[in-house]
Amino acid sequence: MQVLIAYHSDYQQTQAVADAVAAGANAALLDAGATNHTLLKHVSDVSLDDLRDADVLIFGSPVHMGSMAWPMKKLIDTASKLWMSGDLEGKIGGVFATYGGFGGAGGGVEQTLVSLHANFLQHGLLVCGFPRSLSGFADAGIHWGLAVRTGNDEGMPEGVADAALVAARAYGAHVVETAFDFNT
Ligand SMILES: Cc1cc2nc3c(=O)[nH]c(=O)nc-3n(C[C@H](O)[C@H](O)[C@H](O)COP(=O)(O)O)c2cc1C
Repeated sequence: MQVLIAYHSDYQQTQAVADAVAAGANAALLDAGATNHTLLKHVSDVSLDDLRDADVLIFGSPVHMGSMAWPMKKLIDTASKLWMSGDLEGKIGGVFATYGGFGGAGGGVEQTLVSLHANFLQHGLLVCGFPRSLSGFADAGIHWGLAVRTGNDEGMPEGVADAALVAARAYGAHVVETAFDFNT
């Protein structure tokens, strides 16, 4: 079971969340007795072969002006080469985003997650949301995936709360466990 986590991060918040998602994914691999480790890569280092080789793809981006950051979109546009061949069909996908949350309403985090879904669904992946029963749902879960607010009420960066890291680990484990369930 090969897991690829591809993320973009300018100010390390999404990277911290990606690390926690990877820790959860690795814990689930270990629990299942798998020998592989999660591949954690910045989007600019992800090759088409990385995407082809993975059984599980988890993409994460900060919200920029209401949608995903452009380096993530660049990877998505590059990966469109795999659409014709159907190389990504049947893989399991997961999505996460961090956001300042300016105005308290999310600032585009749902749009970011759902547009990542749209791309995965175009490629024929099965996409995992964040079930309500998973640890951390109230802190950083949203039905569409993992959504970590990093700004405070004044719109200033505050960082990633420990509770959000718990949710991130739970989500990483959940996506991998779903892939094992799907494959057995
Ligand atoms: C160019 C830019 C645009 C942003 N636009 C939004 C936005 O529309 N909505 C929002 O909630 N946060 C927005 N933010 C805040 C970031 O999403 C947030 O700080 C995020 O956690 C940064 O992640 P990073 O540290 O991994 O770069 C923006 C930040 C930057 C730098």
